[in-house]
Amino acid sequence: MELGLDGKAVLVTGGSRGIGLETARLFAREGARVLICARRESVLAEAAEDIRKSTGRAVETCSMDVTNLEHTGRLPDVIRRTLGRIDILINNAGTGTYKPFLEVTDDELVYGMAINFFAQFRICQRVVPMMIAQGGGRIVNVSGETAIRVTEPPFLSSCTGPAKAAEVRFSKVLASELAPYGIRVNCVVPGLVFTPERFAKWEREMATRTLSPEEAAQTRDEWAANQGMRATRWGTPQELANVIVFAASDAASYVSGAVLVADGTQDTS
Ligand SMILES: NC(=O)c1ccc[n+]([C@@H]2O[C@H](COP(=O)([O-])OP(=O)(O)OC[C@H]3O[C@@H](n4cnc5c(N)ncnc54)[C@H](OP(=O)(O)O)[C@@H]3O)[C@@H](O)[C@H]2O)c1
Repeated sequence: MELGLDGKAVLVTGGSRGIGLETARLFAREGARVLICARRESVLAEAAEDIRKSTGRAVETCSMDVTNLEHTGRLPDVIRRTLGRIDILINNAGTGTYKPFLEVTDDELVYGMAINFFAQFRICQRVVPMMIAQGGGRIVNVSGETAIRVTEPPFLSSCTGPAKAAEVRFSKVLASELAPYGIRVNCVVPGLVFTPERFAKWEREMATRTLSPEEAAQTRDEWAANQGMRATRWGTPQELANVIVFAASDAASYVSGAVLVADGTQDTS
């Protein structure tokens, strides 16, 4: 299968950890020129070194907060300076709030929309004019399974699910609106993927204490078994990276407006 990614210019938001890191690594392995962005410079530097060691390719980094309008406003300049152009945008940065509905603060509600849906919308507004000027491009928005299913217990998703659902809807609408410009837009929906920072956040909010490694593993297994997503096991960031990179590649040239659910199970609902 020809992915056609050699030399392509790619931006991966949230590219320093988890799914974003593995996505950036896979693009680099396929010969793409990659820019990763996230907030912490030290973690970005570690990620860039990690990718360089495993692929032999250098990646560009940019410290930015995707919820900060001034930072996202600088993106076109950063892209021009580091990559020169933009062929592929991976809107991956995002997170969840894992609390019962009545305990979600207004700040958490607003941040949930800001880091998930608003960031994807705003970054697309910054990057799409560059793609139009270049004659085309590909966008992959990373959502989450709380967008399409009610989890068990439901409070895992009362704050995050609606923001993730907006990403799915946004992707489908954008695919239609940008088709005349040769820009494909797809949405990838991960199920349960073990990324340590995300699980640590979940521990802080739900478990209210840090678990021992054994307790954490047991808790993860029980969670996977009991929650409404019916995954048979936790996915790996690499498995999600495979789907994201495919959606952005030439191999998916006839795929736009699709919602690619990668959750390790079949939807029998
Ligand atoms: N893991 C799962 O089970 C799962 C399930 C469903 C959906 N997803 C979705 O998949 C995507 C990636 O999740 P993940 O589990 O790989 O996340 P992760 O391991 O927590 O990594 C998040 C990445 O995003 C960056 N980031 C966080 N907040 C940011 C901000 N405000 N501005 C810029 N960068 C920011 C982080 O770096 P800094 O902290 O340094 O900024 C890091 O690079 C997210 O959209 C998430 O909602 C994940």
